[in-house]
Amino acid sequence: MIQTDNYKKNAANHAVEFVETGMVVGLGHGSTAQFAILRIAELQKTGDLGQILGIPCSHEVDNFATQLGIQLTTLNKHPHIDLTIDGADEVDPQLNLIKGGGGALLREKIVAQASKREIIIIDENKLSPTLGAKWALPVEVSQFGWELSASFIETLGAKTNLRQSEAGKPFITDSGNYLLDCNFGPIDNLDELASELSHRAGIIEHGLFLGLASDVLVAGHEGVKHLKVS
Ligand code: A5P
Repeated sequence: MIQTDNYKKNAANHAVEFVETGMVVGLGHGSTAQFAILRIAELQKTGDLGQILGIPCSHEVDNFATQLGIQLTTLNKHPHIDLTIDGADEVDPQLNLIKGGGGALLREKIVAQASKREIIIIDENKLSPTLGAKWALPVEVSQFGWELSASFIETLGAKTNLRQSEAGKPFITDSGNYLLDCNFGPIDNLDELASELSHRAGIIEHGLFLGLASDVLVAGHEGVKHLKVS
């Protein structure tokens, strides 16, 4: 296993220590969150963790967790999530996040906003002094008029790219939308940008997760650090 995967696994295993039998648990999307789902299944097999109800953040996670025998529910049936474990693409010192590298930001944000506790698990390479310095901001847009959405976002200072699937066609999200990867460079005005994006028709959701993470577990060469909102 490459070192980054070890870090991801360490952060994931640490996060799963906060999962208790009977909880409704948001199951995040991405390679780091996948380690957490594996760990939950492992603990359930050994009997160290009883039943939980998982809410998957994507179709892929739904399939993965189902195959592992984790019981799932829906947000409509269980609108209050005790704890969500999810990854992120970039994390700033205030624990604001960029998410959506895996294409699941819409569901991830709905789940995060419904969660009492949102634990983000990352390897140390994802820490950043300013969001946007390392990662282009993913923005989910309707297929209808997507080029207008791209032009609008460019007026806000980004270079935009329509995300492509491996087959070389536009990537389609679980909700049937397109994704624009928007390179703003370091973003100084997070609240203002989030608000501009949120108010534009055609933009379904953006990958700025501001004030949503309660804890960030950062794994690196010195072990796992637990960062909390101060
Ligand atoms: C999914 O849409 C993303 O928000 C992921 O949580 C993020 O891209 C982190 O993914 P990795 O854990 O695979 O780096």
